[in-house]
Amino acid sequence: MLKYLFIFFCLPVSLKIAAQKPSTRIERGKTLAKKCIDCHSSTPTALADPLKGIRKKRTADYIHSLIKNPMRFADENKTAKKVFAKRKLQMPPFPELSKDDIKAILDYFDGLPKK
Ligand code: HEC
Repeated sequence: MLKYLFIFFCLPVSLKIAAQKPSTRIERGKTLAKKCIDCHSSTPTALADPLKGIRKKRTADYIHSLIKNPMRFADENKTAKKVFAKRKLQMPPFPELSKDDIKAILDYFDGLPKK
């Protein structure tokens, strides 16, 4: 009987925690995205293209390597070389971002409304 009582009380709590996860993730992405938005905004005068939908165009490996070390990656990868040549501007490296951080950032950008 005690066991059932335990489940009865714990289930709503754990469901609530599970339900909170996506929004806290977006919040974390929003905070981290402040590092990117100065250049990657959706205004016409932005220094770089918006990041919304970037995962449809580029692979995860491409995105991770580029963010960790844009200069070296532009030397190694033809697409990245073209992308940076278009803007004639080098992106700063963000070696401190984990794969999960990058995912949170891109989830945040993908959730932004279209302008
Ligand atoms: C100082 C300006 C600047 C900042 C800050 C910056 N970027 Fe960039 N980024 C660029 C430029 C310039 C390019 C190349 C041109 C373009 O994509 O329009 C670029 C390209 C990229 C690309 C490749 C786009 C493609 O089409 O292949 C990704 C992915 C990217 N940035 C992610 C990020 C993320 C994530 C952050 C924040 C952690 C960030 N950038 C911060 C300037 C910046």
